[in-house]
Amino acid sequence: MRTITITGGTPLQGELTVQGAKNSVLPILAATILCGNTCRIVHCPHLSDVDTTVDILHYLGCTASWDGDDLLVDTAPMTRRDIPEHLMRKMRSSVIFLGAILARFGDAELSYPGGCELGPRPIDLHIGALRTLGAEITENGGQLRCSAPHLTGHEIVLTLPSVGATENAMLAACGAQGVTVISNAAREPEIVDLQNFLIKLGAEVHGAGGSTVTVVGKRPLHGCYHRCIGDRIVAATYLAAAAATGGTLILRGVDYRHLSTVTTVLQQAGCIIRTAPDQITLESSGHLHAVPPIRTSPHPGFPTDAQAVIMAALLRSEGTTVFVENMFENRYRHVPELLRMGADVRLEGRVAVVCGKSTLHGAGVFCTDLRGGAALVVAGLQAESETKIHRIHHICRGYEDIVSDLRQLGAVLSLEENTDT
Ligand code: EPZ
Repeated sequence: MRTITITGGTPLQGELTVQGAKNSVLPILAATILCGNTCRIVHCPHLSDVDTTVDILHYLGCTASWDGDDLLVDTAPMTRRDIPEHLMRKMRSSVIFLGAILARFGDAELSYPGGCELGPRPIDLHIGALRTLGAEITENGGQLRCSAPHLTGHEIVLTLPSVGATENAMLAACGAQGVTVISNAAREPEIVDLQNFLIKLGAEVHGAGGSTVTVVGKRPLHGCYHRCIGDRIVAATYLAAAAATGGTLILRGVDYRHLSTVTTVLQQAGCIIRTAPDQITLESSGHLHAVPPIRTSPHPGFPTDAQAVIMAALLRSEGTTVFVENMFENRYRHVPELLRMGADVRLEGRVAVVCGKSTLHGAGVFCTDLRGGAALVVAGLQAESETKIHRIHHICRGYEDIVSDLRQLGAVLSLEENTDT
């Protein structure tokens, strides 16, 4: 097990290029199955969730190997259509393989997915969407058997704009005869990136970024090169860190339009933000003030994935900020850890009230999930004295090298191998 040790109090200064988006690359790697050919994912982030996806691809019989920072995947030799439970449990997005395997082979078998424990994370919308396209799905003891020899295009109406269900439906629809129209689709930038990847494979897909996505199925597909969009949540994390510590940060490789709700909050807190194509600059004095209530909602609303890091940035702000978490029931698991650092955050159900304190102090804290772990880093960077963050495997799921990135910006932190649990 590894630990991050941070000596807080140094303003962040400098430039960084943001890694590729985890939540783009994972469904795109599942989508490589559709083409039965070779794809090169350019500048693919080195993440433990990508390693798990590669393990799944290998298990299925595909080849996947790194060529520097590119990941080369050949899904031609794929032989298996099942994914074992130990791989499914490692991450939620393993469920996106379902749509891709069904589209290519007409049958699939896998178990319920795992992932960050953010409260109940059902997959009823995924299953409903695939059933609408004609898949027969039976569930037995957590195992899903899916059979769809003849997927047929259809209108799919999602009762919630679920990111994963939209992606699963898009992939399955590529293998369906006829036209599929997905209504109330998720509008996240990662859905647009998936559409762009599918178009490069030769698929006919349009509408992503809006609420209706249309897929014309059964097009001949081929391999391609693709570079994923920059990770907006990693960008939000570094912006939050620079806002809280003070300093000037230039981020490249990320589309500022994907972060507009986050940068608006940071401006309200007192930061100066400048944007250019593929670039965001933040200047902060390190003295932030409270902002109007932050309510998480599907894109283009405030992203739930940025809630924890923005909360951490506001822990020393002047005044009181209210957060309302509308996406997941249990997404405040970082709060008890922040309290150990002297934060004043009161929780009631979906609401968290942050009362700014003048100082935070270092403490030993434990990551409970990916973004909650990143929030502890943001808190540690502004704390007096030393913070030790344990169980950082959660952070490694989504941040390629948070320690080197922050060191490059002048932060004082180190990564240590130890034996904690
Ligand atoms: C994606 O998860 C992201 N993961 C999450 O990122 C992100 O928090 C989430 O979207 C919301 O933006 C990936 O893209 C790999 P959803 P996903 O289906 O697809 C409910 C991170 O930190 N729901 O849009 O699982 C669900 O319970 C993470 O990078 C159903 O009820 O999210 C939740 O309340 C963690 N039934 C809401 O919809 C379903 O069948 C949104 O979930 C599916 C979802």
